[in-house]
Amino acid sequence: MGRTAALVPAAGRGERLGPGTPKALRQLAGVPMFVHAVNALTESRAVDLVIVAVPPASVDEVSALLVQQQFSADVSVVAGGDTRPESVARALIGLPADVDVVLVHDAARPLVPPELVSAVVAAVRQGHLAVVPGVAMVDTVKEVDAQSDVTSTPSRATLRAIQTPQGFTREVLQAAHAALDADETEITDDAGMVERMGVVVHVIPGHEEAFKVTRPIDLILAEAILAKRRAAGAV
Ligand code: CTP
Ligand code: MG
Repeated sequence: MGRTAALVPAAGRGERLGPGTPKALRQLAGVPMFVHAVNALTESRAVDLVIVAVPPASVDEVSALLVQQQFSADVSVVAGGDTRPESVARALIGLPADVDVVLVHDAARPLVPPELVSAVVAAVRQGHLAVVPGVAMVDTVKEVDAQSDVTSTPSRATLRAIQTPQGFTREVLQAAHAALDADETEITDDAGMVERMGVVVHVIPGHEEAFKVTRPIDLILAEAILAKRRAAGAV
């Protein structure tokens, strides 16, 4: 059995969060968001090494922050790209030869429970080539046309909101990235690329604390969850 790596795309600007520091470097409970994410990955014990892709201008700052931390896995930093798939591709380049399972986890999902990380790795090791966590939709989802007129309402029972970490065999993830056209802009997750190759992507139960910090209101939720964990003695 090979080792398991986690790639952490953390190179986005966080435009929906508003002006300021790049999102992954914004602090939650005094700790940068990407550090929370890396902690959750390494605490699962299912991850042997982590590669974080950060804004090119932040590589030195992030490297300095990481040496101050004590992680139970090797953590390294690369310069990310202009799009999420590019950032993941750049992290993939440095993957050691003995890695056979790869997770991709958004730095913007800092509160993912370590148990969810372990469950994704376990499902890949049990034989699924691609595994994603998913939760039931809360809202009804409608498809609209260019005029904002509704064209269809898919049955909510068949829909899942998909989170990260997403897990893949190394071969599948590398093939999906090799097949991607550089000018594609609609790609929002790695599983989407894998599906287009005709590989079945398996959904396991996700977790509400694996939500993505996207808008200012999400910061309030994240701080509240961290305060609750602190009160419970979990951090
Ligand atoms: N990401 C990345 N490289 C990019 C763009 C995004 O590594 N060029 C990462 C983000 O840092 C984040 C994850 O992909 O951890 C999910 O992206 P998203 O939530 O959209 O983050 P941002 O792109 O930073 O936010 P926004 O779209 O609001 O600017
Ligand atoms: Mg984005």
